[in-house]
Amino acid sequence: MDHLVSPSLLAADFGNLQKEVTMVNKSLADWIHLDIMDGVFVPNISFGFPVIEYVKKVASKPLDVHLMIIDPDRYLTRFHDSGANILTVQYEACTHLNRTVSEIRNLGMKAGVALNPHTPVSILKNILPYIDMVLIMTVNPGFGGQSFIMECYNKITELRKMIDSGGYSVMIEADGGIDTKNASKLVDAGVNVLVAGSSVFSSNDPADTIRRLKKLI
Ligand code: DX5
Ligand code: ZN
Repeated sequence: MDHLVSPSLLAADFGNLQKEVTMVNKSLADWIHLDIMDGVFVPNISFGFPVIEYVKKVASKPLDVHLMIIDPDRYLTRFHDSGANILTVQYEACTHLNRTVSEIRNLGMKAGVALNPHTPVSILKNILPYIDMVLIMTVNPGFGGQSFIMECYNKITELRKMIDSGGYSVMIEADGGIDTKNASKLVDAGVNVLVAGSSVFSSNDPADTIRRLKKLI
C-alpha cells in the first residue's frame, strides 16, 4: 500500500484557513490532520469544535482528528458530529481504552490510538484487534515545530513486526518533526501515514512539499 500524507493544520495560518484548506484540497495530501489540545493532557490549547466544523465544510478530504485531551469519552459523539472521519485518542489518557475505541467505531469512525514517545508499543498487544491505526508520537505532544526523536524508528519497526505477525490490518501513523529528509526512512520502517505540520506550512511552496512527502523525493 502506498503511504498517505496528512498535513497538520496546527502550523497553518488560521487567519486564512479557507485558503490553507483549499491548498490541501488541491494537493496530493490524502487526509487533513487536526490537533485538539486541552491544556491539561498537554501544556498547550489549540482549537475545538467550531474550527473542525468549518474545516469540514471546506475540506474535500477525510478529517484525521488527533485528541490530546483527558477523558475523551465525554466528547466522542461531538467529534463525530463535527466531521471527524478518523479519531485518535492518546493511550495515556484512556482508562478503559477498549470501550473508547469500540465507541469510536460504533459511531462510524476509524479508531486510532496514539502513544507518547516514552510509551512502549508492547502495551498495544491486546488492543490491536480492535483498532484501525496506531499513531506514534515522534515528538512530545503539545507543540508543532519540534525535533524528531530518533529512538522512534525502533518503535515503528517493532510495531510493524507486531502488526504483520498478528495479521492485523492496522495502519501506523507517525506525527512530529517529519519533513522531506526523514520521510522515506519512516516509510521504510513501516509507516503508512505521515503527518507534517511545520515542514509543510512553513515552506515556500506547501503544495510542493506535500507532493515531495507523497513521492518521497
Ligand atoms: C504535536 C501534534 C502534531 C504537530 C506536528 O503535538 O500532534 O500533529 O502538528 O507538527 P510538526 O510537523 O511541526 O512537528
Ligand atoms: Zn497530531
